[in-house]
Amino acid sequence: MNMTHYMQLLADNQPWNLLIFMAVPIVLAETLAITELYILFTRKFDGLMYRLNRFSGTTVGLYFIGIIGYLMTTAVLPITKAGEWRTVIDVVAVSSYLIGGLPLIWIALQEIGFVNKGLDQIEKLKIHAICVALFLVFGHIAMISGMLDPSLLGYKASDAHHMHAEQGANSIQNADMEHLHQMHTMHSGNTANQDHRIEVDFPAPMKDHILANMRNHLQTISQIHEAMGKGQYDQAAQLAEDRLGMNALKLHGAYENSKFMPQGMQEAGTAMHRNASKFAIEVQNAAATGDMKPALIALSDTTKACVTCHAGFRLK
Ligand code: HEC
Repeated sequence: MNMTHYMQLLADNQPWNLLIFMAVPIVLAETLAITELYILFTRKFDGLMYRLNRFSGTTVGLYFIGIIGYLMTTAVLPITKAGEWRTVIDVVAVSSYLIGGLPLIWIALQEIGFVNKGLDQIEKLKIHAICVALFLVFGHIAMISGMLDPSLLGYKASDAHHMHAEQGANSIQNADMEHLHQMHTMHSGNTANQDHRIEVDFPAPMKDHILANMRNHLQTISQIHEAMGKGQYDQAAQLAEDRLGMNALKLHGAYENSKFMPQGMQEAGTAMHRNASKFAIEVQNAAATGDMKPALIALSDTTKACVTCHAGFRLK
């Protein structure tokens, strides 16, 4: 079944994620809510319940600063960058979970004395109660939408998505190796005809530009071979450096493009540029030493990077 990132976060790394992102904050928030009701009812601003209320409010607020900081950097930004939100259901689930933390942070700030210093007990209690209510609302929106199946709104997970999502954003490269392996077995088994490549979404004008670059890459590879065949090693070096190597980065707007690329794709791009520059050096050395082997190895490492990227990714 397809899951939101919210659900997946809680299901992964059992039982730790569930404890860290659900059990601990919920126990604290419930202690806060129950003691809040007690105080609203009794107006007793001292004693165990009051202290428990202040303790749970401060702790859960500070705790959420950590959660929000952590999830923004490790999940929200990378998922947004890679365009991998699983429909609006996913966005609502994750964002309401994070937004639910904000009123709790506000409570902590009030308890510590950073905000609402001038208010009296009753006014502070009112803000407290409103914040608890907001947390409950957003927390439950997160839960309900988090448990929805995003395919209800048309989300389709390719196997590639599953794989790399399950393994976490950091191991895209392993997923790529898996793709290669799968494709290999696919061809030899010769049955399935599924496309396991990860789809990458570039803005339309960039797409044409990228494909034009690609055709230029292939032409360059062909011209490099021709130059080598004619013994024009300097020419081969220049073509590689200027059109595929580190010099070519600017020409191809690599920085602009790389913002839309998943990590594994960026790495394949970098490997191509590096190895083309390496080839440019090796082929010039070959002109002096007469030993062409290191240059050919560098050239094949360059085209290996083309293969790796093509095997793992395609344009949407
Ligand atoms: C960082 C990833 C990456 C690298 C590195 C890369 N390509 Fe591509 N290439 C792509 C993608 C993505 C496509 C589009 C494929 C699709 O959507 O099916 C593509 C398409 C192409 C096409 C088809 C162009 C068209 O008009 O349809 C050619 C030819 C090509 N690449 C050649 C190369 C060569 C040669 C190299 C190495 C010197 C290379 N590419 C390196 C990602 C890459």
